[in-house]
Amino acid sequence: MVSIRKYEEKDRDDVHFVCHNSDGPEEVPDFLTGQFYHNTFCNYYIEHEPENCFVLDDDGRAVGYIICAENFDRFKEIFDRDYLPLSDSFGEDRYEWASTAYNAQEKFKDEYPAHFHVDILPEYHRMGLGGKLISTLFNHLAEKGIPGVCLTCGPRNERAVNFYKKYGFTLLSLDHDDACFGKKINKTQ
Ligand SMILES: CC(C)(COP(=O)(O)OP(=O)(O)OC[C@H]1O[C@@H](n2cnc3c(N)ncnc32)[C@H](O)[C@@H]1OP(=O)(O)O)[C@@H](O)C(=O)NCCC(=O)NCCS
Repeated sequence: MVSIRKYEEKDRDDVHFVCHNSDGPEEVPDFLTGQFYHNTFCNYYIEHEPENCFVLDDDGRAVGYIICAENFDRFKEIFDRDYLPLSDSFGEDRYEWASTAYNAQEKFKDEYPAHFHVDILPEYHRMGLGGKLISTLFNHLAEKGIPGVCLTCGPRNERAVNFYKKYGFTLLSLDHDDACFGKKINKTQ
């Protein structure tokens, strides 16, 4: 039975596993790329804002997550100082990717100060669990008075694009690398 709970330190390895396995066995990255994903897309959130991170728990194992930064400026300051420099060791292209990975979220930070990543292991897809993670996060951010949240995904990631549209996100911008979606948060969520 899968339930949703707050992230705990013991979930760290599971969260990393989900991070590089959520696209299915054909898309599992090599070791270094996996490490790069953890550094660029996971570690800030679980290390600095665990209170804004939730996992899908199946018998004690985290099989999916939604991890969030509630304030873009705070995120960017710490990310650029502590995480981006580590990308140097993953090669020039990856460094470039990490240094531009959050440009869209920055553009929309006034209306949508929070942003998140959501990933679930393939065997748990399409059971409504992604939607439950979204509503858990929204209820949590509503209580904190956060007015909006955004995210980016690959513009050709049909699964993700459909997912965000289904749950009421609006397309804010689209370019070759990123589709950026946002949603306002109602205080009575
Ligand atoms: C995107 C993701 C989080 C969705 O989670 P989920 O639990 O499967 O989503 P839900 O069951 O709540 O919602 C399913 C909806 O998502 C969309 N969707 C999911 N899988 C899809 C697929 N293979 N093709 C097209 N649309 C799909 C549809 O809108 C679907 O609604 P429907 O079943 O009524 O057609 C999950 O597929 C995932 O982790 N994918 C891999 C990682 C990823 O792409 N993360 C987001 C990138 S930013």
